[in-house]
Amino acid sequence: MHVRFPQHRPRRLRASKLIRDAVAETSLDPSDFIYPIFVKPSGEKEQIPSMPGQYRWPVGDELTRHVEEALALGVNKVILFGVVPDELKDSAGSPGYDPHGVVPNAIRLLKQTFGDKLLVFADVCLCEYTDHGHCGIVRERRGRWYVDNDETIKLYAKEAVTYADAGADFVAPSGMMDGQVAEIRKALDAHGFHDVGIMAYSAKYASAFYGPFRVAAASAPKFGDRRTYQMDPRNAYEAVKEVMLDLEEGADIVMVKPALAYLDVIRLVKTHYPWAPLAAYNVSGEYSMVKAAASLGYVDERIVTLEILTAIKRAGAQLILTYHALEAARWLKEGVPF
Ligand code: PBG
Repeated sequence: MHVRFPQHRPRRLRASKLIRDAVAETSLDPSDFIYPIFVKPSGEKEQIPSMPGQYRWPVGDELTRHVEEALALGVNKVILFGVVPDELKDSAGSPGYDPHGVVPNAIRLLKQTFGDKLLVFADVCLCEYTDHGHCGIVRERRGRWYVDNDETIKLYAKEAVTYADAGADFVAPSGMMDGQVAEIRKALDAHGFHDVGIMAYSAKYASAFYGPFRVAAASAPKFGDRRTYQMDPRNAYEAVKEVMLDLEEGADIVMVKPALAYLDVIRLVKTHYPWAPLAAYNVSGEYSMVKAAASLGYVDERIVTLEILTAIKRAGAQLILTYHALEAARWLKEGVPF
């Protein structure tokens, strides 16, 4: 075998910060981030116990000031999740498509305040609004419960139109019902919202990494789990099929979720559809694990977070939904720690 050393010395390209920056293949920017925000109808801003540093924001001044802070840091995209009190929930998740519901109100406030300076995404699902906590209409057949796909996507379409009407730039269906993107696209177009985009949660896995989010949004299922609609963690190629279907149905942006344990899926999707804008969701469990480890002094939160976000981008995601958006933007201003 021909021995290449000493002609080849890869360490030359690692010798200083300047040369490392010069040859870096990936760079992270605050404009890569979509910042998830939990909004509630009224009352006080509340800390979310399972997600240190994250809050449920009443629709009002505090929320707009927080978004202003995000914009000042270069974070110009948010995705909204509604949190409503249990007494408002019902079996059909009707607070989700109430034109005066919490998410439409938040969209109107943010678009009136920030206009084109801010892109507003709205998550479209029903688990935050149903009394049983499932992502759609639950029915029973032969003594077993199931989520009725085709009835559910009609409600997603209604919800999406409500958000579009309030001024959302993108709607983001996250329920993993078959045909949800097609049904939403059809309804948006029928109401004249040709300009409202769809960011589809295309490959969303049935994951325990969503635990802290379900506390935040009070959206845990009261019985059973989501394995009959969200994807099986053992499958990667199936994600290519889900993405294919969503692109055919009219998705503008596709997503892989969670991100960190699914970097292979991000890469696989990017390789198959290099032209499709790809987002990845750095989910609540990934965020809270870092927070917990950092609070115990086990890891350096700044470097670990930027390393994780860089890895998600390196794998092929150009947009990253992350609760760390504001902190990461601040850390990036101090300089990349690599
Ligand atoms: C709603 C939804 C969930 C998340 C985003 N949209 C929860 C779920 O599917 O149970 C999870 C986000 C996170 O964990 O950060 N279907």
